[in-house]
Amino acid sequence: MRSSHWYAGDGRDAYIHRAWMRRGNPDSAFDGRPQIAIVNTASDLAPCNTHLDEIAQSVKNGIWEAGGVPLNLPMISLGETQVRPTAMLWRNMAAMATEEMMRANPIDGAVLLGGCDKTIPALLMGASSVDLPSIVVPGGPMLTGTFRGSPLGCGTDVWRMSEEVRAGLLSKAKFLDSESAMIRSRGHCNTMGTASTMGIMAEALGMTLPGVAGTPAADSRLLQAAHNTGRRIVEMVTSDLKPSDVMTKASFENAILALAAIGGSTNAVVHLLAIAGRLGIKLSLDDFDRIGSRIPLLVNLQPSGKFLMEDFYRAGGLSAVFKQLEKLLNPQAITVTGKSITSTIGDGEIFDSEVIKSIDAPLQKEAGIAVLRGNIAPLGAVIKPAAASPALLKHSGPALVFESIEDFHARIDSDDLDVTADSVLVLRGCGPKGYPGMPEVANMKIPGKLVAHGVTDMVRICDGRMSGTAYGTVILHVAPESAAGGPLSKILSGDIIELDVAARTLNVKVSESELAARKASVATENAYANPDRGWQRMYIDHVMQADTGADLDFLIGSSGSDVTRESH
Ligand code: FES
Repeated sequence: MRSSHWYAGDGRDAYIHRAWMRRGNPDSAFDGRPQIAIVNTASDLAPCNTHLDEIAQSVKNGIWEAGGVPLNLPMISLGETQVRPTAMLWRNMAAMATEEMMRANPIDGAVLLGGCDKTIPALLMGASSVDLPSIVVPGGPMLTGTFRGSPLGCGTDVWRMSEEVRAGLLSKAKFLDSESAMIRSRGHCNTMGTASTMGIMAEALGMTLPGVAGTPAADSRLLQAAHNTGRRIVEMVTSDLKPSDVMTKASFENAILALAAIGGSTNAVVHLLAIAGRLGIKLSLDDFDRIGSRIPLLVNLQPSGKFLMEDFYRAGGLSAVFKQLEKLLNPQAITVTGKSITSTIGDGEIFDSEVIKSIDAPLQKEAGIAVLRGNIAPLGAVIKPAAASPALLKHSGPALVFESIEDFHARIDSDDLDVTADSVLVLRGCGPKGYPGMPEVANMKIPGKLVAHGVTDMVRICDGRMSGTAYGTVILHVAPESAAGGPLSKILSGDIIELDVAARTLNVKVSESELAARKASVATENAYANPDRGWQRMYIDHVMQADTGADLDFLIGSSGSDVTRESH
């Protein structure tokens, strides 16, 4: 065991390591049995993760039962709705903390407890760089809340209702009444937003026990699964089954298939690219388009569809989706069980065909992520066609440029705004470096004067991200971002933008020579963040672009689990 380098022998250092860890632990705790960290993102300030301490207790029971020693390791947590300016600014910090604390401590393996959007990606990135046996328990979605007799989807229905208030269709008082009904139980957002998507991605990558992802946080079967996970990690340490054994290129291909079929969040693109980067797996934006964009949409969940995660789990969950994709899955991928993913699907029965469709009768013939390129996004941009208006997937219209998110907020509802339903809203300065942290602002609200005329969707372009609970014809993750010198910084209001999703193109109708001669917008440059110290300075100096996962350049790859020096 790796931990025996701390605990074994009769020297002074081993004495110190054992003595300080005794605190009621029996002698047998140090007899060479696996020491398992429970990397736990429970936090009162990450409300989607507050219940993870209870899950940790079930994991602990399983670890003891299997002959291991459980050790709670509190980890940086990120409450998506709480931290400012955006949780994504700290995903890499949480990943770095996960990596360093796993390496620094006397552990042999880890159970990763996450839930809210960035937490599972950060844990998987960190664990990949240490490459000690690891397994995920996703914290699970909350139960479905209802308001005035109808279900409420976290996030998605906030966007919808706030638009209805703007359009005069819903009173402000009723809107505020819904607030206490939105969050019914423990758990993360119950739409197919980023948290639900990343829980499913963890399972699709093979990093959870089969059938766990999507189990509601309040469902006692999640505690049972946590217990079984505790047992399994001890076996994984014994057989030295590491993240690099489980997460191979084949696993990422399966995750991309699943991402398309579930109509998952566009945020999964940056997270999967970043995790792959830690493992040294060559994954590109084009892989998402090549593997996922022709896959049918099978899951009828908000924001693209109607139902919520509780329904998804009731209808058969990921196993049912995988059964439909069985012929497409790469059977070479294994899971934390050590067996091939295809052997873990089981019956994969669909119990509610309104929620999960068969591959022969899908919700949409083609889902997934489309990758666009052109003179606006030489390194690529993404769109989720399933969440867009079909009529806008081929569109040409004049740009209406906003220099920053502040400029957008100041002008979007102005009666003087020079905008029509054909305009293309362009928002820049919202990439990884410019904001910093690539916030979820790309799903810009529709200008007030158009809302009043019933306009509900427009083509929107941004170098930021979009909430996984949002929808619309939104082109996001434009790379390079404007703050990295991308052509987005040179677009002028009135330039004609041409979008053709079928052809995968996104261009501004300006000649190459004119675009090259133009200078970047001074107003946008003045709005870029420019901190002089701390994490934000380091982040801006080292963050990479969205097309490679927005990780820090010096965190790519793995350092393994060896510690360079012993303590003295
Ligand atoms: Fe935590 Fe949505 S705010 S998952």
